[in-house]
Amino acid sequence: MCATIKRGLTYMPIGIKIVVLVENDYIRGDILKEHGLSFWIEYKGNRILFDTGQSDIVVDNAKKLGVDLSTANAVVLSHGHYDHCGGLSSVLNLASKAKIFLHPSASQERYSQKPTGTRFIGMSKESIEALDGRDVVWTKEPTRIFDGVFVTGGIDRVNDFEDVGGNFFLDKDCKIADDIVDDQSLFIESDDEVVVLLGCAHSGIVNTLDCISKFTKNKPIKAVIGGTHLVNASESRLEKTMEAIGKYDLSMISPLHCSGNKAVEKIRETFPDLYSYSAGGTTFSL
Ligand SMILES: [Fe+2]
Ligand SMILES: [Fe+2]
Repeated sequence: MCATIKRGLTYMPIGIKIVVLVENDYIRGDILKEHGLSFWIEYKGNRILFDTGQSDIVVDNAKKLGVDLSTANAVVLSHGHYDHCGGLSSVLNLASKAKIFLHPSASQERYSQKPTGTRFIGMSKESIEALDGRDVVWTKEPTRIFDGVFVTGGIDRVNDFEDVGGNFFLDKDCKIADDIVDDQSLFIESDDEVVVLLGCAHSGIVNTLDCISKFTKNKPIKAVIGGTHLVNASESRLEKTMEAIGKYDLSMISPLHCSGNKAVEKIRETFPDLYSYSAGGTTFSL
């Protein structure tokens, strides 16, 4: 499926290609799915992998989608959860020259607590070891990856209605809350517009868009694609999020991965002209 921006009157292509390599769902049967996320981005001659899913299926799916991971010049991690970093070692074996961009706290030990029990959800030993000897850029602050491509680094939590979206902890006993300070988003800034890719948006989608707008001096955000982690959001948070999203003059929003059915439905109902379904195998040409 090829998705393009819907508001044709204002749309001028800016030459960005984004392929959803891994997602919880797929758009065609030969693409594998898992709880995870990975995007391939081509812009101004550069090729960037943003997140790696939770396993090696990123490699299989890339082949099926005609993406050559060995040509990546950058691999960017949105945060250190297993479902975004699990394919890192396989990817880096192929992308032998790629620079790696991640927040220094991405590799910390971390757990999630659910009624079914507590489990480790951090970067695997294999993923952490894959960074050894590689060209790593630590991204605490907004960082330029290539011409027009940036990662936010840590995002200020400014508003009073967004939280990390779950019971996340830094210790096995679940006593020290994990604020997921390593959460970051990638954005592509053309002369006139900005395209945003979210990993899980544990900082909150609104805090994230506000952070990017501040950096770009309020350049219009054309498209937002990725995980919004609204899966556990209250009705009040959803309402406030819709209100805040409405203030941005978006042309397209495609919530993925950890967004949750209820939030996706809310976005679809609130912004029927902007909502775009995507999943593993989707290519956006923006
Ligand atoms: Fe995730
Ligand atoms: Fe996450």
